[in-house]
Amino acid sequence: MKKYVTSARNILHGGDYNPEQWRDTPEVWEEDMRLMRLAGINEATVGVFSWAVLEPEEGKFDFSFLDTVLDKIAANGGKVILATPSGARPRWLAEKYPEVLRTEKNREKNIFGERHNHCLTSPIYREKVRIMDEALAKRYAHHPAVIAWHLSNELNGECHCALCQRAFRQWLQNKYGTLEKLNFTWWTSFWSHNYTSWEQIESPSPRGDMGVHGLNLDWYRFCTDQTISFIETEKQAVQQYNPDIPVTTNLMRGYFGLNYYKIAEHLDFVSWDSYPDWGAPWGNYHEASSIAFDHDTFRSMKKQPFFLMESTPSLVNWKSFNKLKRPGQNALVSLQAVAHGSDSVQYFQWRKGRGSSEKFHGAVVDHYGKEDTRVFREVAALGKTLACLDEIVGTMPEAKVAMIYDYENNFALADAQAFARHDKKYYLTENLIYKHLFERNVAVDVLPREADLSDYAVVIAPMLYLCSQTTIDRFTDFVANGGTLLATYMLGMTDENDLCHLGGFPGGKLKEVFGIWNEEIDSLYPEERVSVSYGGKTYEAMDYCERIHAQGAEVLATYASEFYAGEPAVTCNAYGKGKAYYVACRDTGELMDALIGRILAEKHIVGYAPKTENVSVSMRTDGENEYYFCENHGDTATACSLVGSFTDMETGERVINEVSLPPLTCRILKKDAS
Ligand code: GLA
Ligand code: ZN
Repeated sequence: MKKYVTSARNILHGGDYNPEQWRDTPEVWEEDMRLMRLAGINEATVGVFSWAVLEPEEGKFDFSFLDTVLDKIAANGGKVILATPSGARPRWLAEKYPEVLRTEKNREKNIFGERHNHCLTSPIYREKVRIMDEALAKRYAHHPAVIAWHLSNELNGECHCALCQRAFRQWLQNKYGTLEKLNFTWWTSFWSHNYTSWEQIESPSPRGDMGVHGLNLDWYRFCTDQTISFIETEKQAVQQYNPDIPVTTNLMRGYFGLNYYKIAEHLDFVSWDSYPDWGAPWGNYHEASSIAFDHDTFRSMKKQPFFLMESTPSLVNWKSFNKLKRPGQNALVSLQAVAHGSDSVQYFQWRKGRGSSEKFHGAVVDHYGKEDTRVFREVAALGKTLACLDEIVGTMPEAKVAMIYDYENNFALADAQAFARHDKKYYLTENLIYKHLFERNVAVDVLPREADLSDYAVVIAPMLYLCSQTTIDRFTDFVANGGTLLATYMLGMTDENDLCHLGGFPGGKLKEVFGIWNEEIDSLYPEERVSVSYGGKTYEAMDYCERIHAQGAEVLATYASEFYAGEPAVTCNAYGKGKAYYVACRDTGELMDALIGRILAEKHIVGYAPKTENVSVSMRTDGENEYYFCENHGDTATACSLVGSFTDMETGERVINEVSLPPLTCRILKKDAS
C-alpha cells in the first residue's frame, strides 16, 4: 500500500525560489524557467518571505508577481509548494502594531528586524496572518501548479510579552484548575515559591524563576501549544477554499524548543530542513548515520513519507566552516533522504541573491548565472536519477526495531540540575546507539515515549528519564506480549510533570518489568573510565554508572573497578513472554554494540546487508515491490553483498548477490519478482 502525501506522483526536485528579489529584472525569471528545465527541477517553494511585496501597505494587496511566477512554473511543467509569509512580517506591520513584536526572556521588547521576531499570541498578528493567508488561498488554492501549503518557516522561539503571560496563565488554569494542584505539581514549597494568585505566575526568566522545573516544562508545553494553535489558524485559513491541498511546515534538525511530535499531529505531512556537517573531522559515514536518525525520526512522526524541504546543493553560509559538498555527494545524500522515506529532494536555494546575509549560501544557480558550474551539473544529473524513481513515491521503509526519542524527555533532562549538569548528551547517545543499527543495515523507527509499540519486536529506550504512567504501561504491555525492551541508565526517574517517582527507580511497575532497583548514579569526569566485564571480556564505562540491584533479573555484566566492582552493570529480566534488558552505564560503544548484536540475533532480525565499511543499505516497499538503496559514503570504491537479483533503476543493469559501489554514490536497486 502506498501513502501519497501530495498529489505528486513523482519525486519532487526543487526548493526555495525567491523571485521577489528579482522583480526589477524579469528576464531573470525567464532564465530561471529555462535553467529549471535543464536541471530537472519540477518543484518550487514560493513566497516564504514575500509578505512585504504581497501587501506593501496595510490592506493593499499586489499579487501580480506571484500570478506571473506561478503561471510560468505551471507552463514549465512544475509544481509549487506555496508558502504563507508569516515567518517574517513587513515593517509597516510592526510599526503600526508594536504588539506583534517579540519580548525576550529578560522581558526586553525587540525592535523590528530579522525574522521569527513575532508574538504568536498577538491577536493582531494572527488576524493579519489570517487575512493574508485567506487572500492567498482564495487566489491560488485551485491553481494547477499548487500542490501543498508551506506554513510559515521554521517556527521557533518564544515570546514573553504581557499577552503571552496572560495566555500562559489561562493555559495553566485549564490544566490545573486550582492553585493547590499547581503548587503541588511544581513543588513550590521549595524555597518558599508558593503561588497565592494566578497573576503571580510569570514565564521562566533569568530575572525571575529558572529553577522551577514544573514551570519550565509547562512553559515548554505552552509554547508548543501556542505554536500549534498558530498553525491551526493558518491551516484553517489556507484550506478553506480547497481542503485537498495538504499543509506542512518545515521542521529543523537539532531544534529542541518545541515538541515536534505534537506539532506533527497538526500537519498533513512532515517536512524538514537538513544541513549536516559533511566533511567534518568525524567523517561522512558517522554523519550519515546521524542524519539517518533524523530522517527516521521525521518519517516516524506520521508514519508516512516526508519531504526534505531544504538542503543545500553544496555549502551553507552559517557554519563556522562552510565546506563544499564533494563531487557526487549531493546526489548521494539526497538519495539517502529518499532511502529513508522522503518523496522530495529540495534545496535552499534555487538562485543566490545579490545582497544580505545569505548571498553566499549555496544555490543551484550561482551569481555567475549560467549552467556550466559543477553544482548545476550535479543537480541536473540528480534530476535525471530522480526521474527514474516515480514508482517509489508513496512507499515506506519497514522497521521491526524502534528507538524512543522523546522531545519532552530531552527538555526535562537538559533542565535537570544533576548528572553531567551542562550536557547530558541525550541526543548524542541516541545517535550513537542508532549507529549500531545503522551499521548493521537494520531499519529503525523513532518514536515518542507514549507511542504504541505493538508493531515492533525490539524497542530501545535510552536515557528515558521522564516516564508517565502511560509510558510505564506501554513498556509493561510490550514486554509482557513478547517484545524485547532495552533501556539504559536514568530510566523512569520522574513522571510526566518531572516529579520524581517514589519507591525506587525506575518508577512504578518498571522495577518489576526489569527486575532491578536503581539505587544511585555516579557521574564521572570526562576522562574517567570504569571497567565492566561482560562475556569474558572487559569493556569501559564512562560518564554514568548506576548502582543497581538485581531483583529477579539475570546479571549479564558487572562492574570490575570502583567501589561498586562486582555489582551489576547489565541485566536481563524475563517478564511475561518478553525480555527487558537494563544497561546501567554508558560505555564507550563496544558493550552496547555487543548487546544490540545479541538482541537482534535472539529476535532473528537481520539487516538488509552485512556490515560493510562506509556502506548503508536501506529499503522501501509498498508491500509487494522492494527498492534497495545502497550508499557508499567512503572515498574509495567498494562492494556489498545483497542476497537476490535486482535491477538498477537508473541504468537497467542486473545485479546479483553483490552490488559494486563507486565512491560517494548511491545505487537504487529494485528486487526482481521471485
Ligand atoms: C533555514 C531557512 C532558510 C535559510 C536556510 C539557510 O533552513 O528556512 O530560509 O535561511 O536556513 O541554510
Ligand atoms: Zn507575546
